[in-house]
Amino acid sequence: MTAILVLHGPNLNLLGQREPGVYGTTTLAEVDAAIRTHAASRGVRVECRQSNHEGVLVDAIQGAASEGFAAIVINPGALTHYSYALRDAIAGVSLPAVEVHLSNVHGREPFRHRSVTAGACRGQIAGFGVHSYLLGVEAALACLARG
Ligand code: DQA
Repeated sequence: MTAILVLHGPNLNLLGQREPGVYGTTTLAEVDAAIRTHAASRGVRVECRQSNHEGVLVDAIQGAASEGFAAIVINPGALTHYSYALRDAIAGVSLPAVEVHLSNVHGREPFRHRSVTAGACRGQIAGFGVHSYLLGVEAALACLARG
């Protein structure tokens, strides 16, 4: 069965209580459950991991292929805007990656308009709340189907 690794970056463990006006009241556990349900309906397996630490995310990206994952869906959180290490990790592996954001980063503060990681991904999905992740899974599947 195709397996997709879903990575959540810093502060996403606080979903549900963190700036609910921006990110909503859905918790990370509920987001992960929605992703798993969607993936099951598409006949794929997902594993969801969250870390507040850049290096842990880099290690997860580097190890994804050898762990049997075919693609990565990643919400790098604020690392999106400045982490060249994360960008290089994504660029350095052969797996397709899709960047997702709950909020529409392009309509927020100017520092959020720039993603240093999106260019290393196949594309970016932003602004659809939990659905950004489900669309991210769809995009990852499209990448795998297209090769
Ligand atoms: C976010 C957007 C980032 O700018 C922010 O730092 C986050 C969450 C989102 O999902 O909308 O932590 O990635």
